[in-house]
Amino acid sequence: MIESVLREERIFYPNPEITAKSNIKSMEEYEKLVAWAEKDFEGFWDYFAKEKINWLKPYEKVLDDSEAPHYKWFINGKLNITEQCLDRHLEKRGEKTAILFEGEPGDIRKITYKELYGEVNRVANLLKHKFGIKKGDRIVIYMPMIPEAAIAMLACARIGAIHSVVFGGFSAEALKDRIEDAGAKMVITADGGYRRGKPYMLKPLVDKALANGCKTIESVLVVKRNNESINMAKGRDYFYHELVPNMPDICEAEIMDSEDIAFILYTSGSTGKPKGVQHAIGGFILWAQMTMEWVFDINEEDIYWCTADIGWITGHTYIVYGPLACGATTVMYEGVPTYPDAGRWWQMAEKHRVTKFYTAPTAIRILKKLAPDEPKKYDLSSFEILGTVGEPINPDAWIWYYETVGGGRCSIVDTWWQTETGGHMISPLPGATPMKPGSATKPLPGIFAEVFLEDGTKAKVNEGGFLCITKPWPSMIRNIWRDPERYKKTYFSFKDNIYLTGDDARIDEDGYIWIMGRADDVINVSGHRLGTMEIESAIAKYEKIAEVAVVGKPDEIKGEAIFAFIVPKEKITDPEKFKKETQEVVTKEIGPIAKPDYIVITEGLPKTRSGKIMRRILKAIAAGKEITQDISTLENPEIVKKLQSSKPI
Ligand code: PRX
Repeated sequence: MIESVLREERIFYPNPEITAKSNIKSMEEYEKLVAWAEKDFEGFWDYFAKEKINWLKPYEKVLDDSEAPHYKWFINGKLNITEQCLDRHLEKRGEKTAILFEGEPGDIRKITYKELYGEVNRVANLLKHKFGIKKGDRIVIYMPMIPEAAIAMLACARIGAIHSVVFGGFSAEALKDRIEDAGAKMVITADGGYRRGKPYMLKPLVDKALANGCKTIESVLVVKRNNESINMAKGRDYFYHELVPNMPDICEAEIMDSEDIAFILYTSGSTGKPKGVQHAIGGFILWAQMTMEWVFDINEEDIYWCTADIGWITGHTYIVYGPLACGATTVMYEGVPTYPDAGRWWQMAEKHRVTKFYTAPTAIRILKKLAPDEPKKYDLSSFEILGTVGEPINPDAWIWYYETVGGGRCSIVDTWWQTETGGHMISPLPGATPMKPGSATKPLPGIFAEVFLEDGTKAKVNEGGFLCITKPWPSMIRNIWRDPERYKKTYFSFKDNIYLTGDDARIDEDGYIWIMGRADDVINVSGHRLGTMEIESAIAKYEKIAEVAVVGKPDEIKGEAIFAFIVPKEKITDPEKFKKETQEVVTKEIGPIAKPDYIVITEGLPKTRSGKIMRRILKAIAAGKEITQDISTLENPEIVKKLQSSKPI
């Protein structure tokens, strides 16, 4: 059994003013939807798929599970995601702002639906006619948080190309791995962007990645953002601003099948190699739109702001596709929340009259710590719904978000989901669900979640176990790019073709779900999901290192900090220097987000007689916790005491 210690008793009820504007106004309504989905699963999804999506050709069947766990949705339905996000809004909302961009230096751009449509079409034409991109080709997008990043994604979708967005904080090495795994034909990037008041560079990292491999890349399209000097390879690299304006304004949308791949997005798992999570068009866009309507109650007047980076799934679903499918105004901000000070976000929210705001617990904790009273200096009365995602939110941070940021008026939607789920799975409904700080509350209608013990039996009330989703859902992962075996093994081998999330959770006496963290070798650092094995293989590239094990250590701000136990090849005389060098290796291999925060230099790691590293013991040591496990069966039990008394550098 997995021990759970968090107990939170407080309950907060939605403000009646929020309820009045909500799509789902009570728990009775919620229960009705849940019961409908339970009783008539396919009928439920059929109703929404027909109501929400502009199908170019209707589907013939809702769900095909004949090749489970490769579930298929909306069989033979045809559509194009960009028609759902752009074309259908032109008549009613052509002049409405689609993307409201603010750069870190303070520059603002408001792009209407009509303008966005035109630009997406021009870029689509460029990809198709100048660069020869065809349906199914892969394009890697490596960009700062600027509108062209969203435009590039949509342009790919327009012509049926598959985008793989790589987070701009990843290194050249990580970029290269992702380009090669996807077999991408093209990279869309920028010179760089602005962060913490300074320009930073991306194009040189693309150059470096391409110099070391990436033989499939034929061309690179470069947006000018910070105007720093960069190298352009003749015949390979082209400037966006020189080509795009000359392209025709209309590009016929490619007719796509509901099950065609919408995009690939790499995420971390239990092995050293990131997984290319594959999403399918029809199901993805349906759920992106439905959850925007249910969880954010998006409406015509909203100014909606999700602070994620488009390099993560949150940016895909809840900055680009979901809000645009709903015809909303989506805010994009380039920089960090603390520049020029910890009031930047609140100042922006006041200026743009943001109504719905969506961020990560780690950002909430940083802002609370740096400047707890800062929100009070701004008029945040426009806020109605405040969301969080990415990791469990501790009740303290929740209460500050609720009271200081939300003025006690707003609903907090603690949304649990994953790269693989495509959209929200467990979340309060802002006008209906009584909120318990720290709980993502209940599964959304149509989503069925349960907690099982290791032996496959159902966990009892409040008993911790594996969180599973017991029925398929439209926006679920379809495959791991080029690795269907890993798809089956990772997600569907636990029990009867049901989806294993990789998280531990418990369900309380009211049916509320409490996420307890990852059950696998994945750690969650500032909401970034990192595989411990990925970090280990990066560290192991450093020639002074013989062996390494990485675990997460609970951290007040980051959620988890990276703690590495390292066995060096020779005695280390200057530990500080050694730590710095190790961090540099990781920065080069993955990026600065994966740098170890703590290092313990040791002569050995606790192992079983079969040679398996006992991570659970290392986790307890890193957390400074007592070790409850029996260590007498270890090959080297004496090492545990030594590790407990070592001071990390
Ligand atoms: O452990 C859960 C945590 O983030 C993991 C998914 O990470 P990723 O695929 O990068 O997607 C993040 C954005 C959707 C989950 O397995 N997680 C996400 N949301 C929550 C959460 N943990 C607790 N509460 C949440 N609301």
